[in-house]
Amino acid sequence: MDEEAFRKQFTKKSVFKKLGSLDKSWVPDKLYCRDDALNTLIVNYRRILEEKEQPSINCLILGKGGVGKTCTSRYFGKNFKTVATEKDVNLFIEYFDCINFRSKSKIIRELLAKYTHGSGRGYSDDEALKLILTKLIRDNGYMLLIIDEVHLLKPDDVLAFLNIAETFGHQNAKLSILLICRGADWMRIENERILSRLNEKIPLEPYNFEESMQILTYRSEIALREYVLDEELLTMIAQIVVENKNMRHGIEIIRKSGLYCDKEGLDFITADIVRAASDDVYPTFRAEIIDGLKDQELLALLGIVRSLMNSGTPFALVDDAFEEYQSICESYSIEPHVKMSFRKYVRQLAQLKIIASKTVRIEDATRGRHLEITLLDIPAGKLAELLEDIFERKFLK
Ligand SMILES: Nc1ncnc2c1ncn2[C@@H]1O[C@H](COP(=O)(O)OP(=O)(O)O)[C@@H](O)[C@H]1O
Ligand SMILES: [Mg+2]
Repeated sequence: MDEEAFRKQFTKKSVFKKLGSLDKSWVPDKLYCRDDALNTLIVNYRRILEEKEQPSINCLILGKGGVGKTCTSRYFGKNFKTVATEKDVNLFIEYFDCINFRSKSKIIRELLAKYTHGSGRGYSDDEALKLILTKLIRDNGYMLLIIDEVHLLKPDDVLAFLNIAETFGHQNAKLSILLICRGADWMRIENERILSRLNEKIPLEPYNFEESMQILTYRSEIALREYVLDEELLTMIAQIVVENKNMRHGIEIIRKSGLYCDKEGLDFITADIVRAASDDVYPTFRAEIIDGLKDQELLALLGIVRSLMNSGTPFALVDDAFEEYQSICESYSIEPHVKMSFRKYVRQLAQLKIIASKTVRIEDATRGRHLEITLLDIPAGKLAELLEDIFERKFLK
């Protein structure tokens, strides 16, 4: 392609009106089909704006992937802040996704840096928290802390967050918490003490067909130009959403279908494009998790993927995966870590539900037990492509 042809690509028209509205962090102006959840949040947290003592409230949103947990919490946070401002309450909304902040300390350090401009080095978590709370009181402020994907924290960390008001005294804790978790993962975390600190659990169910239709119609009107996606295709996408119980799948199909049209210079989406886009989306596989992985975890994951592709079996053995990992490190001129660390990365990947691993006892006594690893939610070849893309960007500068 020469420069002129390159330039011309930018003047081509697009089927999108607002592609950014399909990004993960985008919060819609209207939230359909979640009135119940929003009302529950409002009745719980409105006391912060109404009562002079400004109590600490802890709620939890629960539900499967793609039911709108993140979207609902962000919508609530954004609009709650607006109402607070109107009522002259100095409210700060802080949102953390534990994919990026994997411990209580990381979250507290980040807050400390933001609110007090200190690094927090040398402080314990409690000391750092105290500084933040003192700062809030001094500024006559109040913080709503939203913590997403909270299953990635240790239960003790979760409890410590919920316990802030008890620990520091209610009058000192100008802070409330909203936790978000997948239902199945929460079972692992919940205990009596945690439960006793929760004001309310708010379960979200997957959207039914009518709801999916309403949401997708609204979202496609914002994202796409008129006549790009007709009603019949929207129906088809809504059916896919209902089948998978996952709205993210629908949003991704719209995004991918539109991008395909732009690339091929087409004016509207067709059934075939929707089908191809749908096959390309792995609804329960969350690419953003991959984006949050540390380098060594990414390398370990590619080791597992390559090993799966080579063995042709549905599972990989940890020893084989480790060898692949070593050779991948070598090819990118990265010093490989020892096997014990590799096993740690495997455990972390399992905790993130990217892989599943189980220990199997084998007959051959000399080899003892071994660890079998399988990939969840996405075919090995597909994930290999994705990872190799990331590595190109990361390691081959
Ligand atoms: N009620 C809704 N209105 C508009 N968009 C929604 C709604 N519920 C979910 N979405 C969209 O569907 C996708 C998945 O929702 P998300 O909140 O990320 O789900 P979860 O956090 O439960 O996995 C996001 O792109 C989100 O914007
Ligand atoms: Mg979410």
